[in-house]
Amino acid sequence: MSYISSRLSVVKPSASMVASQAARALRAKGIDVIDLGLGEPDFPTPPHIIEAAFAAARAGETLYTAAAGTLAVREAVAAKFRRENGLDYSADDIVVANGAKQIIFNALMATLEPGDEVIVPAPYFVSYPEMVKLLGGSPVVVECPEADGFRLTAERLEAAITPRTKWLFLNTPGNPSGATYAEEALKALGAVLARHPQVLVLSDEIYEHIIFDGRTFVSFGQACPGLRERSLIVNGVAKSYAMTGWRVGYAAGPAPLLKAMSTIQSQSVTSVCSIAQAATVAALNGPQDGVARFRDAFERRRNLVVDGIAGIDGLTLAAPEGAFYAYIGCAGLIGRRTPDGTALEDDAAVSNYLLHRGRVSSVPGVAYGLSPYFRISTATADDILTEAVARIGSAVEELE
Ligand SMILES: Cc1ncc(COP(=O)(O)O)c(C=O)c1O
Repeated sequence: MSYISSRLSVVKPSASMVASQAARALRAKGIDVIDLGLGEPDFPTPPHIIEAAFAAARAGETLYTAAAGTLAVREAVAAKFRRENGLDYSADDIVVANGAKQIIFNALMATLEPGDEVIVPAPYFVSYPEMVKLLGGSPVVVECPEADGFRLTAERLEAAITPRTKWLFLNTPGNPSGATYAEEALKALGAVLARHPQVLVLSDEIYEHIIFDGRTFVSFGQACPGLRERSLIVNGVAKSYAMTGWRVGYAAGPAPLLKAMSTIQSQSVTSVCSIAQAATVAALNGPQDGVARFRDAFERRRNLVVDGIAGIDGLTLAAPEGAFYAYIGCAGLIGRRTPDGTALEDDAAVSNYLLHRGRVSSVPGVAYGLSPYFRISTATADDILTEAVARIGSAVEELE
């Protein structure tokens, strides 16, 4: 008999991690694969942030901290919300955790009863439904087609809400589609939520700064202040400051929720690494020019990929509005045959074909709840991206 908890029977490993492992396995055999599976900035963390970490360690900031985070980091987060999002939170309204992912996990653990429903608009960040299932809830996946800009509409939201709905998850700019929500779109969702007081909102704004074509980012908290007592605004330093490995995420929200999340944190991980918290203070309070530089690079790469994909017959890609992914439509490849005569039946087959024939790893749309697409990360050097798009084009040309 297996000793693994039945809780795990419903949970899949992260699809992007699986794609990356497949790429690594081929590389280990000497095959030159370009890995566009995982999404993380390819830039180093800015030097002043690294220096702040050294300084904190030397100054003896090497002890456990308060579960919710040091006062300095919570004040820096509160100042960030005020400065960048027009949100008035104090340090007491903030928690930090080991990444935005742990914030989300703690929020669900703090609130879900068995069978509670969580509305997850698709395409979604792969971890959302898996975390919900792991914690005994039921993800209610709402497909948001490309014709709607991959955005949840007020009508689809209204239709998905039941008396068991506990949370709505929003993600702007979104992984994998890059879709962003303008203020009016958020207000329209807020108007629906106002009629359903049992529903909490988790707005994952981790890609806030990676937004293109001069768009202005609007936080859900800013668009819907009337829902403040049931909104959790989630963000972190991973994507904006090239700090994925430092593992710091944060959130602002209502006191009872934050208190429960802190209790979970104190009994599980105690606190976030004290040195990473000091680095986060430097990231949030220090010079912000790196953020704009990263954004400009991601926009240039987005353009490069959009132009490249436009030249490949059978693939479609509308310009992503933010984040660093391209969610490429591959309906035109379904049913076509590979050189060995196999028909491509779905986007998993397309992604697998591109890995083995094109030597480019991607993640199939089935992992994000909306097919037929595949996602590539554009957080890669321009020349490697150019080569990857060329390889995808050559592999596609070989299809009959
Ligand atoms: C939408 C979204 N939220 C959260 C995360 C994870 O953030 P963190 O590294 O802070 O845990 C990711 C990372 O891929 C993401 O795409």
